[in-house]
Amino acid sequence: MESYTSADRYAPVGVFDSGVGGLTVAREIMRQLPEERLVYFGDTARVPYGSKSRGTILRFVRQIVRFLETKQVKAIVVACNTASAYALDTIEKEIRLPIIGVVKPGAKTAAEVSRNGRIGVIATDATIGSGLYPQFIRSINPALQVFGKACPLFVPLVEEGMTHDFVTEEIARRYLKELQEKDIDTLILGCTHYPLLRSLIRGIMGDGVQLVNPAYETALGLRRLLEEKGILADRAPEGEEKYQYYVSDGAEKFQMIANSILPHQIRTTQVVDIENY
Ligand code: DGL
Repeated sequence: MESYTSADRYAPVGVFDSGVGGLTVAREIMRQLPEERLVYFGDTARVPYGSKSRGTILRFVRQIVRFLETKQVKAIVVACNTASAYALDTIEKEIRLPIIGVVKPGAKTAAEVSRNGRIGVIATDATIGSGLYPQFIRSINPALQVFGKACPLFVPLVEEGMTHDFVTEEIARRYLKELQEKDIDTLILGCTHYPLLRSLIRGIMGDGVQLVNPAYETALGLRRLLEEKGILADRAPEGEEKYQYYVSDGAEKFQMIANSILPHQIRTTQVVDIENY
């Protein structure tokens, strides 16, 4: 059993993603755990992860974890579905820090809320290809049926700011058609960017389908993990920057998109040469 000191309680939580999308998870952590400091890293130089292989993603994640360790984080949140699906099980055996991903929490929520036992998952090619969502869901209840659909165009469309565009809506209709035919009553938004398309997806799927954003359950899971380890912050930091932002490239573009996702404006984003870690 790891031992933690009271100083660890006020150390930041490291949160990372392949780019800006993980801010939808960071935003939920800020909302549920307002006392916590966060160090966010977005791998904007190497996004997207969704089309890359397991080996490449694992190499990237190891570098990011090493970077976050230099920031003395007390825990790590893998706020990227693809990285959670491909790297979390390996990384958690390699480090001493508590670490949590987004796939398990999303799977758990979906298994709990589905009434007809038919669950859809939309995500990147890599996440769908990993088969991890169905695996977790069936480990909770083997009778549940899971239907996956990769939606690779959603990430660039969101990053281009086209969340309310008729082109995005047409593409979404095509992607979601086969899930509509499967009579699902629950749909997991299994990619960090998809909660930003929530109203569009809701409009297509209708009110009869519950949309699951894994970010909510992930923030709850983080609270449980920090409590368990005795390192949940009990007061907000004084005199320090509460949230720090780092990217591997394009700080300006990151900041522009980030400011439309987060409830506050980011003042500084630092660029890190992640290949050095
Ligand atoms: N963050 C990724 C995910 O949640 C989406 C973007 C990417 O492909 O890197 O799967």
